[in-house]
Amino acid sequence: MEDSTEFILQNQGSRMVYGSKDNPIVTASTGALLAGLYGMWTMFALPGFSKVPRRLKVPFLPSSKVQTINAMKLLEGRRGQLADVGSGDGRLVFAASSAGLQCTGFEINPMLLAYARGKARWTRVPSSQANFVNKDFWKTDLSNYNNVTVFLAPGVMEVLGDKLLRELPDDACVVACRFPFPHWPHQATQGKGLDQAWAYDISAVRSALD
Ligand SMILES: C[S@@+](CC[C@H](N)C(=O)[O-])C[C@H]1O[C@@H](n2cnc3c(N)ncnc32)[C@H](O)[C@@H]1O
Repeated sequence: MEDSTEFILQNQGSRMVYGSKDNPIVTASTGALLAGLYGMWTMFALPGFSKVPRRLKVPFLPSSKVQTINAMKLLEGRRGQLADVGSGDGRLVFAASSAGLQCTGFEINPMLLAYARGKARWTRVPSSQANFVNKDFWKTDLSNYNNVTVFLAPGVMEVLGDKLLRELPDDACVVACRFPFPHWPHQATQGKGLDQAWAYDISAVRSALD
């Protein structure tokens, strides 16, 4: 998470904390306060986020390197359009676009969006390969995408699964990182523990749930 917003904030926080002469209570409470304030700000004050129902709010937590590699292994051989729902700093989008997919990252946090767009410009990745849009994915029709990557939270997976089943084409592949879709049979999986990822074939999921 070296390049994430949290990392930058954490570093600033720790510099302030270390300035307080190593008092462990001050260190712990300042850290907790900063993390809490940032979490509250992200969840409630950011434009767009306040309109997301409380049970569907998911904060930023970047995919680990291994998790990203696992997700990319599951997308091997796939072509076409990919949507990353909640693209954060863009790491899954950049990885999938370098594997040849035309990727769109949906992100509600404008700071993360600006970071991902800046990185795309800086690394000269054209927007036809990696595009970042400021949209609430819950309110976005995903029917044009035949690949979807998801790294969100356990509490939203069932609702998201229903949305994807309603919208995605039959040939779509969905890759879920860390949290699988409850009740969906997976086609393949990679990794274990926190880095595990699962691939789902939408037509197989539809047949199994019918
Ligand atoms: C757990 S992070 C994953 C980030 C990135 N996909 C990755 O794997 O590193 C979830 C991201 O989803 C974004 N997000 C949450 N709800 C959203 C929504 N309704 N629409 C768009 N983005 C959303 C958050 O701001 C956060 O950046």
